[in-house]
Amino acid sequence: MAQLNNGVAANVTQKQPLWLLAEVTYRCPLHCAFCYNPTDYDKHTKNELSTEQWISALRDARKMGAIQLGISGGEPLLRDDIEEIVAEAHKLGYYSNLITSGVGLTEKRIQAFKEGGLDHIQLSMHDVTEDISNFITDTRTFELKKKVAGMIKAHGYPMVLNVVIHRYNIDQVGRILEMAEALGADYVELANTQYYGWSLVNRDQLMPTREQLNQAEAATNAFRERVGNKMKVFFVVPDYFSDRPKKCMNGWGEVFMIVTANGDVLPCHSARVLPGMTFPNVRENGLEWAWKESPAFTKYRGMDWMKEPCRSCDERENDLGGCRCQSYLLSGDAEMADPVCTKSPNRHLIDEALANSQKPQLREQPIIFRTDKNSKKYVEGDKERIEQFHALP
Ligand code: FES
Repeated sequence: MAQLNNGVAANVTQKQPLWLLAEVTYRCPLHCAFCYNPTDYDKHTKNELSTEQWISALRDARKMGAIQLGISGGEPLLRDDIEEIVAEAHKLGYYSNLITSGVGLTEKRIQAFKEGGLDHIQLSMHDVTEDISNFITDTRTFELKKKVAGMIKAHGYPMVLNVVIHRYNIDQVGRILEMAEALGADYVELANTQYYGWSLVNRDQLMPTREQLNQAEAATNAFRERVGNKMKVFFVVPDYFSDRPKKCMNGWGEVFMIVTANGDVLPCHSARVLPGMTFPNVRENGLEWAWKESPAFTKYRGMDWMKEPCRSCDERENDLGGCRCQSYLLSGDAEMADPVCTKSPNRHLIDEALANSQKPQLREQPIIFRTDKNSKKYVEGDKERIEQFHALP
């Protein structure tokens, strides 16, 4: 039997999952218009994995070398077994991160997380104003989030805020950073919206203009200069405004493994949109087989799947052709270069989206919020709203 080092087999190979993201539930009290969860998440809400199944998945992934654990959703705190999962993760030697909206975090629970060994809590905030924060989440949670931020700080956790940026809050980036400073934040991620799931449905309404983006970046840099090392600010530039695609998930099946609420094992958040793919499920398949041998994980690993222009591109090892899901969602071809790439024959799809972001009539269409009711519509095949983006087969 292979020797174990803190739960990790000593013979783990180079390509191993370092990151395990446990999307423990798709239920969520918030209804964010930019949520990256699948629009048809409703079909995965009734068959969530049990506590025992989660713990067994954690154990298996750890044996394969996973060391970072993200616990997200939906809202993970809607499950009442997160304390148990966190404590088990700690025993197994994970560095664990709870990714939460803050709804459901109480003194009692945070105390239990602390005792159980949770390492990190990442709280989402949405704006400096109550109006926009409540609008974009379709809830009244602004004040609660500020209280939760205080609670996280009081329990000695690093204060880590994640703020998704879109055209409703991008002009407030300077003030958002000041709010974060007042809350005592140590890290702030300004995550410009990427367009998958619900944010793709609402793309025209959410996408800022290039001028807005430039101003937000300038405000971020001015803030960084003022506060120095006191607070780390990450400004994640959105794909659409780049010329080069991102190395999505750091490569398909290279370091990330996601287990979803119903047990599907995915190489990336959106993989289930890709046609003709069957994904392993922890109820039937071991994680080791899923990672090493399943067709889903091997299909786009490395570069063998590439066609031109990626196949002969000098950059292919750096970006691995970009994002397979983005390519499929925009062009209908998962094996084509990510349309973000200026060498892609589909780059015009990105340029058109950028041009649309300037058209007031498109920007003013109503937003589709992430609600169970709307998700049911997607499950039932009401694809009217998505057809204009998804190249449906
Ligand atoms: Fe699936 Fe990028 S999100 S490959």
